[in-house]
Amino acid sequence: MNDNQNPPQLISFHGLPALQLRCADGAQAVITLHGGHLVSWIPAAGGERLYLSETSAFDGRQAIRGGVPVIFPQFGPTGPLPRHGFARTSAWKLEGIRQEKEFALATLTLDDDETTRQIWPHAFHLELSVGIGGDRLDMELEVENPGAHAFSFTSALHTYLRVAEVENILLEGLNGTLYQDQTKGNKLVRDTGVALTVEGEVDRIYQDAPPTLLLRDPGRPLGVHSEGFTDTVVWNPWEDKCAALKDMPARDFRHMLCIEAGCIATPILLEPGASWFGRQTLMELRNS
Ligand code: BG6
Repeated sequence: MNDNQNPPQLISFHGLPALQLRCADGAQAVITLHGGHLVSWIPAAGGERLYLSETSAFDGRQAIRGGVPVIFPQFGPTGPLPRHGFARTSAWKLEGIRQEKEFALATLTLDDDETTRQIWPHAFHLELSVGIGGDRLDMELEVENPGAHAFSFTSALHTYLRVAEVENILLEGLNGTLYQDQTKGNKLVRDTGVALTVEGEVDRIYQDAPPTLLLRDPGRPLGVHSEGFTDTVVWNPWEDKCAALKDMPARDFRHMLCIEAGCIATPILLEPGASWFGRQTLMELRNS
């Protein structure tokens, strides 16, 4: 039964076809078909929780800067594919929507086609589910191998969180975890801080990271939980690298922090007929 007073809507988001989910409790989300890209999440308590660059491209070709880009089948520049793979720049299909009073769920899919096979010769099926309700957002990525040959991939949900002032946040839960420091040629370092603070460029791939983290943004604590994804990337470009990004205002590094759930250090190998899934959950904790 769909007893929601706010049925899902197909909208235009900066000119891109998008889906707007709205729950009776006030929770909302917007997902563009370009990239299968979540560009907005407002929990029931109110207030946007995702960072989205106001100078991002929305041309249906380039990746959107902000929100939650889906990274597949290659994380970063390491490999033969365009940086961070092609899923974030591909046209996804809306597969289904469920909208009830207390939650809304959208499922989008992406399959291999002639263009993807030219640069990555594998059959694949991706399913992205985005569920909202109350103070919670669940994003789940499933990867299937419908082909006759095994393939391996790296992947991430590249979540850009909006923060009031990045120098005032604390990220708890990573103490004791090994990370590749991408600002230092992937040097392996063990995190020894009680909490991570951001006072300069941070670009770390935490390996076998703890599944539950707490982002303390004053007045707006957020729980970040992952399942299936083994690694966590924490990224803030800081002043110089942000200024060099043509699709992000120079000062905006102060208002974002990426906490990405990924499978990066050890690629996933999928045999024919096999599937894998990973999930990232965000939980607004203001009311708890
Ligand atoms: C992060 C990487 O995941 O993505 C960074 O760790 C990278 O190294 C960032 O700079 C943004 O990548 P892009 O391709 O969206 O500019």
